[in-house]
Amino acid sequence: MTSHVEETLVLVKPDGVARNLTGQVLARIEAKGYTITDLRMLVPTREMLVRHYEEHEGKPFFEPLVEFMGSGPVVAVRVRGQRVIEGFRSLAGATEPTTAAPGTIRGDLGRDWGEAVQKNLVHGSDSTLSAERELAIWFG
Ligand code: RTP
Ligand code: MG
Repeated sequence: MTSHVEETLVLVKPDGVARNLTGQVLARIEAKGYTITDLRMLVPTREMLVRHYEEHEGKPFFEPLVEFMGSGPVVAVRVRGQRVIEGFRSLAGATEPTTAAPGTIRGDLGRDWGEAVQKNLVHGSDSTLSAERELAIWFG
C-alpha cells in the first residue's frame, strides 16, 4: 500500500466559531483518526484572505466571502493523516449546506441563511498544492 501521509489546512470559519461549534468540528477530525498537529485562533487580515481565496477573485461572492471570513475569529488547524486532504473534504460535505449530505459537518450543522455568501462552517484544502500554499498563509 502506497503511503500518502499529508497535511491539510482546516478552518473553522467565523460562523462555526460564533455558533460554538469548534469543539464539534475538532471532535469529528479526531474521531476519524486524524492528528491535529497545530492550531491557532485569529481574526484574519484582508490581505491573508485575498491570498487564501485568490482562485475566486472576480466572482460575485468574492467580496462578501472576504468580508464574512474577516468578520470574527477563525480557528486554523493543521491536520495530518493518510489521504487527509480528500478525507477532510469528505467529512466537510458539499459547499452548499442545504444539499450537503447528512452525516457531514455542513450537512448536519449548517443551513442557508439567505445571504450573499454561503456560511458553511469549515474550509478544507482541496489538493496537495493548495494545502502547502494555504498552510504557509495561516501558519507561516
Ligand atoms: P472551501 O474552499 O471554503 O473549503 O469551500 P469549497 O471548496 O467547498 O467551496 P469554494 O467553491 O472553494 O468556495 C469558497 C467558499 O465561498 C463561499 N461560497 N459562497 N454562491 C455562494 O453563495 C457561494 N459560493 C461559494 C462558501 O463559503 C465556500 O465555502
Ligand atoms: Mg475551495
